Amino acid sequence: MAVGDFFKFPDNGELSDGMTSAYHRDGFLVLTDFASSLDCAKLIARAQDLVEAFEPEDTKTIFSTHEQAHARDEYFLSSGDKVRFFFEEGALNGAGDLRVAKQNSINKIGHALHDLDPVFEKFSHDARLDRAARRIGFTDPKVIQSMYIFKQPGIGGEVSCHQDATFLYTEPISVTGFWVALEDATIENGCLWALPGAHCSGLRSRFRRNGEAGLVTEVLNEAPFLEDHRIALEVPLGTLVILNGLLPHLSAANNSKKSRHAYALHVIDGSASYPPDNWLRRDPTIPLRGFL
Ligand code: FE2
Repeated sequence: MAVGDFFKFPDNGELSDGMTSAYHRDGFLVLTDFASSLDCAKLIARAQDLVEAFEPEDTKTIFSTHEQAHARDEYFLSSGDKVRFFFEEGALNGAGDLRVAKQNSINKIGHALHDLDPVFEKFSHDARLDRAARRIGFTDPKVIQSMYIFKQPGIGGEVSCHQDATFLYTEPISVTGFWVALEDATIENGCLWALPGAHCSGLRSRFRRNGEAGLVTEVLNEAPFLEDHRIALEVPLGTLVILNGLLPHLSAANNSKKSRHAYALHVIDGSASYPPDNWLRRDPTIPLRGFL
């Protein structure tokens, strides 16, 4: 199989040897027909309902000015076991008021939809995902984070090239992304791009807590990502993309008139250690769950 070739998601989630080989070679695996269009529509509708119910006024002070950086950090840092709403950069003016309707201003919802929202909980706990995770090497998959990503038309910002292990670090490194396209993702509306094989070149940085200093990015390796080698992952809705936590990936801004909604789960292995300086913390009363 060539780099970036698509596979059809196997009905039972038992990835073939060809699929796992492609995953280990490239650092990602594109699996079409994972979710039905009905399932995608249900998640889109649910996210819309959550945004409808969200009162931006409640967070106005948090996002209003640069002086509120600490409050913004706290809102983010304590979101690991909550359902919270994060705005697109530039969605608010200096007074903290929305420039456009809130439905078009939200960048993402994070980070515990998979545990706290019944619709996302049902979608996220799926025996097929458990089997797929074990086929790529997990012994004890634990879903640590979920994100509903809007990639709004016109203002959906770019996500620069990064490795997910920068943000969710375990020893040994185990974080893996399970990213589901809820709408067709194209170059025009800001699809994922990946650097095939670059998961083998080590972790570049860690984004972590650092006591009173707050959040820091610790550079581990200054070598730049070789973005010239990136390939676009243009995928139809319902496609699952599995991303190795060391794989550099990115997405461009969405300058088109079409949104590009996606739902992403990040999974770590329960057998790995999770240092307490990771940004994401959860209340011990909400223990991590697997895919089942
Ligand atoms: Fe990512």
